[in-house]
Amino acid sequence: MFAQLSGSVTVYEVSPRDGLQNEPKVLPLEAKRRLIDGLVAAGLRHIEVSSFVSPRWVPQLADAVELVQSLAPREGVTFSALCPNATGLERAKLAGLKEIAIFLSASESHNQRNTNKSIQRSLEVFEELIPAARDLGMRVRAYISTVWGCPYEGDVDPRRALEIARELVRWGVYQVSLGDTIGVGTPLQTQRICELFLAEFASEQLALHFHDTRGTALSNVLVGLELGIRTFDASVAGLGGCPYAPGASGNLATEDLVYLLHGMGLETGVDLPALIAAGQLAEQLVGRKLPGKVHQAGLFRPRSSS
Ligand code: HMG
Ligand code: MG
Repeated sequence: MFAQLSGSVTVYEVSPRDGLQNEPKVLPLEAKRRLIDGLVAAGLRHIEVSSFVSPRWVPQLADAVELVQSLAPREGVTFSALCPNATGLERAKLAGLKEIAIFLSASESHNQRNTNKSIQRSLEVFEELIPAARDLGMRVRAYISTVWGCPYEGDVDPRRALEIARELVRWGVYQVSLGDTIGVGTPLQTQRICELFLAEFASEQLALHFHDTRGTALSNVLVGLELGIRTFDASVAGLGGCPYAPGASGNLATEDLVYLLHGMGLETGVDLPALIAAGQLAEQLVGRKLPGKVHQAGLFRPRSSS
């Protein structure tokens, strides 16, 4: 049924942001730097390192400016961070960041709880923010959350997300990452959502962002791959969640994603043993067991028969 695939896939690592924003323990800046160093050493080339959101809303990432300023530029590596508004953009500029990610939800209640705004108000903010960031020489990515379902409203019509994506792309975002924020998606639903978006956008303009709450993230990745999508967000060892989405457990684990992609014949540029080491470091830093499967199982090394 499946053919060997070829070519490369972009793994967009979000653990220092999506992972750490949800940890009860606030990590010191030095610990965050060690995690990011481990991710770079594993070959990850796109890393979302923090958020320029309100420190009152997400105290775990209050040191975003200092953290970004402390990161030495690495050849071929793009660091990015979330940015919700003009204050966030000022902070991103101060930090010297070259890529930001804006975010909003496809469902009204989640957007309200996550950003204290209606979807309409978020769009008005982004219509100004996206060109302003581009004028500063930044690339802008976008997340649309709750595309597969909302913790407050249940089912969400994906056409709502499509209308939002259309505007964001028109204003200059280079890629829209579609989020299954609470990990409710199943493969047939993923096929329908991807087909809806691929009818309007090139595959490079789309990314998939799965949380693995119900164990369906990898099967959804496979659907996206078969349909030609080549960017997937993930978080080392499955660190993560969303503080304003009850029940949103960790993101798809990067090790699980990379294991699957390599098995399908795809290149990621990621060194799996080094990635597993970064996941072990993440576990040590947050001081709790992390859920990633490959993280727990380790490398597959057949036992010798002698
Ligand atoms: P607000 O309270 O409505 O903001 O929050 P405001 O504009 O009324 O300002 C209130 C105060 O906050 C002011 O300070 C502002 O200066 C300050 P005061 O005058 O009272 O001292 N403020 C800021 N400070 C620092 N940086 C800023 C900033 N903005 C305002 N950028 C706001 C609105 C959007 C800021 C708030 O709701 C917020 O920060 N929300 C972020 C929540 C969040 O980070 N959620 C998780 C990320 S989304 C996610 O995880 C989903 C994703 O992974 C995809 C998926 O899984 O689907 C991306
Ligand atoms: Mg997320």
